Amino acid sequence: MKLTLKIWRQANASEKGALKTYELDGVSSDMSFLEMLDLLNEQLLHNDEEPVAFDSDCREGICGMCSLMINGEAHGPEVTTTCQLHMRSFKDGDTITIEPWRATSFPIVKDLIVDRSAFDRIIQNGGYISANTGSAPEANSVPAPRDKAMRAFNTATCIGCGACVAACPNGSASLFLGAKITHLGELPQGQPERYSRVQSMVGQHDAEGFGGCTNIGECAAACPKEIPLDVISQLNKDLRKSMILG
Ligand code: SF4
Ligand code: FES
Repeated sequence: MKLTLKIWRQANASEKGALKTYELDGVSSDMSFLEMLDLLNEQLLHNDEEPVAFDSDCREGICGMCSLMINGEAHGPEVTTTCQLHMRSFKDGDTITIEPWRATSFPIVKDLIVDRSAFDRIIQNGGYISANTGSAPEANSVPAPRDKAMRAFNTATCIGCGACVAACPNGSASLFLGAKITHLGELPQGQPERYSRVQSMVGQHDAEGFGGCTNIGECAAACPKEIPLDVISQLNKDLRKSMILG
């Protein structure tokens, strides 16, 4: 395939950025989206040009590092991570616009790389349990009903990629926050800090400049791990209860 790529180039956080156009030939439909960018970077290096900076690590949909806005959609046209998106989703002659996550709380570092350390600080403010769990218990010794265990497991699949923030017109991280609150709040081990946790994590979310949720739902539609929108209801319920409990 031959593609036209419009890619956001920005030298650093303080420089002004702009879309730059590249022509790329020899793209196979079997390539992943990141392999296509690797091919572009080989071409740029060959021509003594600066390669495009972008984030990736596992390239298996696990780590959440690959964060690209592709033709205006977080992670592109499929419900998956950018590293798991394949070029068979595009056709010969296509023009593809590639931008970094657009959110005030995720400042651009360079080109397509953004700083998502705001998520780390939210986790540092309560996204853990402090109960001493000792050695691995026998699987059936913790009395967690199956539906709660499954909901905790499913919400624990959030990889912290930030697509929910990038897709939200308010730049809210409520889906990410709801996933973390639900994951820990469904299980017995998460109960002792349940209500102090929600207050602390929501406080950090707001301090980082993420917007509020107005139930638009773009976050859940963009989430590669299909975290359901109702985790935000659970987040709000826990927050209200924490206020009553003082
Ligand atoms: S909720 Fe989904 S979109 Fe948001 S950070 Fe987690 S995995 Fe990514
Ligand atoms: S590179 Fe790890 S999820 Fe994409």
